[in-house]
Amino acid sequence: YRSLRIALLGAGSVGAQVARLLLEQGDELAARSGARLELVGIGVRDVEAKRDVELPRELLTDDLATLVAGADVVVELLGGIEPARSLLLDAIAAGADVVTANKALVAAHGPELFEAAEAVGAQVAYEAAVGGAIPIIRPLEQSLAGDRVLRVMGIVNGTTNFILDRMHTQGATLEEALRVATDLGYAEADPTADVEGFDAASKATILASLAFHTVVPADRVHREGITGVSAEMVAQAERTGRVLKLVAICERLGGPAGDRVSARVHPVSLPATHPLAAVHEAKNAIFVTAEAAGDLMFYGAGAGGPETASAVLGDLVSIARRHVLGGPGSPPSSHANLAVAEFGDVLARH
Ligand code: NDP
Ligand code: HSE
Repeated sequence: YRSLRIALLGAGSVGAQVARLLLEQGDELAARSGARLELVGIGVRDVEAKRDVELPRELLTDDLATLVAGADVVVELLGGIEPARSLLLDAIAAGADVVTANKALVAAHGPELFEAAEAVGAQVAYEAAVGGAIPIIRPLEQSLAGDRVLRVMGIVNGTTNFILDRMHTQGATLEEALRVATDLGYAEADPTADVEGFDAASKATILASLAFHTVVPADRVHREGITGVSAEMVAQAERTGRVLKLVAICERLGGPAGDRVSARVHPVSLPATHPLAAVHEAKNAIFVTAEAAGDLMFYGAGAGGPETASAVLGDLVSIARRHVLGGPGSPPSSHANLAVAEFGDVLARH
């Protein structure tokens, strides 16, 4: 196989899982993508810090600039705007492709990154930035590119959904539930981003920009978080058969050919029978309505290390295939060499 040098920035909830999968599943990923994804270094703040996932000490470095300089692909899982923005711009300027899960960065500086990449023929992939494990970026960017999207709405922040769910089902307080969500690796490094709705607003910016093929600035997204949601409001909702959810709504105004769009994030009181009311824990669900396609539904883990790592790895494999094939191409169909079971064997297993 051809080898691609992968520089990983960050070894936190998501980064450590990406490193683990690259190291554990290297042969399989090479067979699937046509290129060996060689992890050449992992950039962190503290190389001596104790981590949940044991990582080879020799790969860890706090010299992120040097790590980036020698890479074919840079995977940014630091969070925040700087130094993530500058490191990715440097990587792109040197001709590297980049993968990021950083919605705050893409929402605030996406156009800058995309233009820099276009100028040198590099790729910026960010499937993990919205919806954790759920494929939603590529469906909007590619699969629905021939349709007119009218509306994208749903639950796009796992932490706040986890908190509201626990407030409803266990009578937990916001603070108690946030502590658990943080321990489970769902919350942002500064969880204000979650509970005040900034994270969901960044995701609404990205979704609206993709869905409506325009730039929707982050500061034009109306934002309300969940810090105003009290135990009494939860109890009142329940007495009337309703459930509180933090929802993002992106709409084209004025019908299919309308020339205005809006994006907003705020708590909504939904009937307990509404499909979004059944979205529990840190799950996300996104409904897309398009003129020809009609209603589409995307559901799954909206946060979490291994879950988000799945989307990051998907971007890496897709980039590797482009390197090997010179285009998205079709994946090799027979690399895994798995046997096909007889139907009788399948029945016997159930
Ligand atoms: P963490 O806070 O768990 O990890 C951040 C990592 O980046 C740490 O390893 C930290 O190093 C390193 N880091 C941060 N700043 C610097 C810096 N200035 N220099 C060097 N290293 C630095 O974050 P997550 O893994 O949770 O999230 C990473 C990104 O993925 C964020 O953009 C987040 O929004 C996004 N995301 C997260 C999801 C989740 O469920 N957690 C889901 C989807 C997206 P050290 O370990 O030494 O402190
Ligand atoms: N903090 C984010 C959330 C991580 O809870 O949804 C996933 O983007």
